[in-house]
Amino acid sequence: MSKTQKLDLIAAQLSDPVSVSGTMRSFWHPQAEMQKLFDEFSENTITNYFFPYGIAPNVLINGKMHMVPMVIEESSVIAAAANSAKYWAEKGGFHSEVLSFVKNGQVHFTWDGPFEALHSGFNELERQLRKRTSGITANMEQRGGGVISMELIDLSHKLPHYYQLSVRFDTRDSMGANFINSCLEEYAAGLKDYAESTPGLSGWNLEVVMSILSNYTPECLVKVWVESDINCFKDIDSGLSGEDFVRRFEMAVNIAKVDVNRAVTHNKGIFNGIDAVALATGNDFRAIEASGHAWAARNGQYEGLTDIKLENGRFEYSLTLPLSIGTVGGLTSLHPMAKLSLNLLKDPSAAELMQIAAVIGLANNFSALKSLTTRGIQVGHMKMHLLNILNVYKATDYEKALAVEHFKHHKVSHKAADEFLTALRNE
Ligand code: MEV
Repeated sequence: MSKTQKLDLIAAQLSDPVSVSGTMRSFWHPQAEMQKLFDEFSENTITNYFFPYGIAPNVLINGKMHMVPMVIEESSVIAAAANSAKYWAEKGGFHSEVLSFVKNGQVHFTWDGPFEALHSGFNELERQLRKRTSGITANMEQRGGGVISMELIDLSHKLPHYYQLSVRFDTRDSMGANFINSCLEEYAAGLKDYAESTPGLSGWNLEVVMSILSNYTPECLVKVWVESDINCFKDIDSGLSGEDFVRRFEMAVNIAKVDVNRAVTHNKGIFNGIDAVALATGNDFRAIEASGHAWAARNGQYEGLTDIKLENGRFEYSLTLPLSIGTVGGLTSLHPMAKLSLNLLKDPSAAELMQIAAVIGLANNFSALKSLTTRGIQVGHMKMHLLNILNVYKATDYEKALAVEHFKHHKVSHKAADEFLTALRNE
C-alpha cells in the first residue's frame, strides 16, 4: 500500500475518518523532501508525532557554559533542569569526567567439545578473526578506534554448552551499533570456520546462536558532580536551616539506595533529563536507559544512581552511570533537529556529550530532591502543568492570562481550574 492508502485505512477504523485523516495530514512536513526523509527513518509511517523542543540555559560544566537542547513532553522537566543549572552556575557549576570509553559485544555460541580444546588455539583464532574484519575496521582505526580486545568465555556452568566470544570496541564518536554488529557477524562466521577447519576441533560441533552488541556498557562510564560548602544551603528554603536541608537531602539519597520503590522513581527523574538530551541529539534513549538500570542493579539490588558525600563541612553530590552515546552516524546527522542540537552544543565529541547528558540528569535529580525534601513536588509541578490543564478546558489566550495571574496565589488543580474558568465564562 502507498502511504496515503495506509493513512486512509487507519482513518477508516475511527468514527470520523475525514477529520482523522485531516489531522494526520496536518502534521506532515510542508516540504515533501523533508517528509520523505522522516518517512524513511521508520516503516509504515503515516504521519509525524510532535514533541516540544526546549532549552536548559546556564549549564556550566568544567568552566564551559552550554545551552542544552531537550526534547520532552512532560511539563516541569526543562524548568527543573534550568533551575538547577542556574543554581549551580552561581556555585562553580557542574564537574564531570569520563571514567572509561569502551563498548562491547558478544558472539553467543554452543560447543559440545572441551573448552580447553577451543581455548588453546585462541591466539591463532584471534589473528584470523581480526584479519577477517580488517576491511570493516580500517576506517575506525584511522579515527583512533577499532577492536580493543577479545576473549573466549566459558559460561557452560550457567547454561550447558554455552560459550561466548566477547569483544571490546572503541567506536570513537559514534554509538557504534552497526560497526560492532558487522564485526561480530564476521567473527561468528570466522569462529565456525575455525572450529570446522582446525585439526582436533572438527569432530565437535560449534553452533552460533547469535551475534550482537551489548547495550550494557559498564566500561563506558561518566561521572558528574556538584560540590559546595554545606552552609551555602542556608537560604534554600525559608523553613529550613542549611544543615537541616542537607540532612533531609542525604536521607532522601540514602532511601533511594535501600528502597526499590523510591530508587526507580529517583532514577526515572535522572532519565527525564538524560533521555531529553538523547532525543534532542538523535540518540537511542532505550539503550541508555536499559544500561543505566542494569548498572543501578549491579550490586544485586536496584539502587538510586546518585551518591552523596558530606565531609568537613562540604557537600558533594555525584552521578556515575554508563552512557553510550554518539555524535556521528545514525540519526545524529540525518535528523535536521538532531544536527542542529549538536551545532548548538558546539559539535561535541561523544565523550563531551556523555558529560552534558549526565549533567542534565543530575540537574533534574537535584531539583527533584530539593523540592521533595522541602515544599513538595506538586506546588511547582502543577504551576508548570497549569497550561496543559487550561488547554484541556479549551481556554482562550485571554482566559489563560487571567488564570496564570490567579493561580500565582492559589493552589492549582483540575477542579480549581475548571471552577475558575466556569466563573469567568459566566461573568
Ligand atoms: C517526575 O517525572 C520525576 C520525579 O518523580 C523524580 C523524583 O521523584 O525524584 C519528580
